[in-house]
Amino acid sequence: MKVKIGVVGAGIFGKGVLQAFKQSEYEGIAQLVAVADVNKNMVKQQEKDFKIRGYTNYKEMLKKEELDAIAIVTPDHLHREIALNAAKQGKHLFIEKPLDVTVEGCNEIIQAASENNLLLQVDFHKRFDPPHKMLKHKIEIGKLGEIQYGYMWMEDSIDIPSEWWPNWASKSSPVWFLGVHCYDVFRFILQCDAKRVSATGQKKKLVSMGIDTFDSVQTKVEFENGVIVNFDNSWILPKGFAAFTNQGLKVVGTEGICEIDSQNRGIEECTSEKKGIKTPNAYFDLKEQDLFNRIIYKGYKFDSIQNFASNLFFIKNGGKIRELKGKYASGEDGREATKIAEAANKSIKYNKIINL
Ligand SMILES: NC(=O)c1ccc[n+]([C@@H]2O[C@H](COP(=O)([O-])OP(=O)(O)OC[C@H]3O[C@@H](n4cnc5c(N)ncnc54)[C@H](O)[C@@H]3O)[C@@H](O)[C@H]2O)c1
Repeated sequence: MKVKIGVVGAGIFGKGVLQAFKQSEYEGIAQLVAVADVNKNMVKQQEKDFKIRGYTNYKEMLKKEELDAIAIVTPDHLHREIALNAAKQGKHLFIEKPLDVTVEGCNEIIQAASENNLLLQVDFHKRFDPPHKMLKHKIEIGKLGEIQYGYMWMEDSIDIPSEWWPNWASKSSPVWFLGVHCYDVFRFILQCDAKRVSATGQKKKLVSMGIDTFDSVQTKVEFENGVIVNFDNSWILPKGFAAFTNQGLKVVGTEGICEIDSQNRGIEECTSEKKGIKTPNAYFDLKEQDLFNRIIYKGYKFDSIQNFASNLFFIKNGGKIRELKGKYASGEDGREATKIAEAANKSIKYNKIINL
């Protein structure tokens, strides 16, 4: 039995979510049924592109359509209310990171999902990036010995807060948008929770452009197993930078070191339409055509979304949520990343170390 899915939020990332579920439809796993967005034009466009029904009010979509699940791809601070409403109506949930911008909100969503016996999965797609999977395995089999420290950076071009969504960037930050990905990657590869957090941050350039949020945040996290990891997240890389995101990580253990450059993956291109050398991330987002000349998308961006459709297919066809435990990014994983982000914000505000 195919799983019936609706998507709430059809903006920049919402389109990718729609594309991913369309592919799950080609594979016989899902049926992409409907989309809801408060922006009427966006709805019209997606109705046409994906041949699905569209709504400007997600509550109407929930009422009129027989959905098994919804994907929530609205701005960071608007996931909670939609998740709680949908959970009350027994809809399984796929939610963009961050699960919510408060630990309290995450707990409410987790509780609502659990009370209604629903699958709650968070889109932490960096878990699907092949080098990260490889690193997790090497750590598990002891290749790097006992891990002592690490470093991860994710820094976005200033286009993202200033041009992609200037109307809600001030309600988010490099911590909420990028930090949670990084905190989750280290929780994932170390299989361990954070214990202590301290952070520093700078507010200057974006504030001068009328966007009241941090330019950059540096977070230091001590994990329960003693591993120390530093994270740098920023939203102010210059427009001409080679990629939208400068990113990578390093891990050092008693028996080895592993360094991953996730920005320059060995592809450099220079074309007349874009200025300078660019470094496309083929692991993230790759367009192909299938046997039937349909466009299909590959890469970890889509793997993570399609993984939800597969998990739901398993449940709809007799599997139990508990059988999937530890095999997907759960609500609890979402909450732990938010816990670190919330602690980083507190640490900056009160200039002190935060114990979790
Ligand atoms: N997993 C990732 O790496 C990744 C990457 C980019 C964005 N995201 C996350 O996806 C979410 C959306 O980001 P985006 O870049 O697509 O933002 P966006 O602003 O381009 O799109 C958000 C859409 O939500 C719609 N919306 C707002 N309130 C709504 C409501 N109540 N009901 C229905 N629609 C509503 C807006 O009209 C807009 O079209 C954010 O939480 C963001 O952090 C995740």
